[in-house]
Amino acid sequence: MTQDEMKRAVAQAARDYVATHLPTGAILGVGTGSTANCFIDEIAALKSHLGGTVASSEATRQRLEGHGIRVLDLNDVEHIGIYVDGADEIDASLSMIKGGGGALTREKIVAAVADTFVCICDTSKRVATLGRFPLPVEVIPMARAHVARQLSQLGGTPKLREGYITDNGNLILDVHGLHINQPTALESRIDGIAGVVCNGLFAQRGADVLLLATPSTVEVVKRKK
Ligand code: 5RP
Repeated sequence: MTQDEMKRAVAQAARDYVATHLPTGAILGVGTGSTANCFIDEIAALKSHLGGTVASSEATRQRLEGHGIRVLDLNDVEHIGIYVDGADEIDASLSMIKGGGGALTREKIVAAVADTFVCICDTSKRVATLGRFPLPVEVIPMARAHVARQLSQLGGTPKLREGYITDNGNLILDVHGLHINQPTALESRIDGIAGVVCNGLFAQRGADVLLLATPSTVEVVKRKK
């Protein structure tokens, strides 16, 4: 299977997971990115099963609505049963780096509300240690230089994502060169820098289930309790 075929295969597996595990009429959270886009295309077939969806970005909202899938404001929703999203890297404990598509803040908010986070990706995203993929950090524009200095002190090399503004009107610093041995601690440490809105480590709230496309099958990996 090519990488695109693996994305489609894992999107179909996620559609089947939702059809089986999400009660009829319940709310589904939907992630952002090329794998999440394949998933959106698949769940057009589940429209009548869903009470509605919550989108993690404007791009996702538009794609869902393009399929005639109902998108709700998170403030009008008390409960999200399942959140399905991709990742840039995922380790054995199902901690992730996310935000390659710039939607990390809204993704983290939707994930926080969801009962179950289902990560969908192919084997290229599986790593022993997080950090080869540059860690995205969303930053208030006036704090860009300050946050960059603080991130350098943590051992990374921050680079401004040129010409990019998030859905929330902020900037992204992509931090290169981090070898992340303690993702939960680093997540808190970076969130503690004044001017940081959110960082792309999803360790405190990692995935509960990983659907991992390999060249021959889709494996199901559950987080160890
Ligand atoms: C967007 C994300 C995506 O989930 C991540 O970048 C993976 O994207 P893709 O499925 O295109 O590889 O975090 O902010």
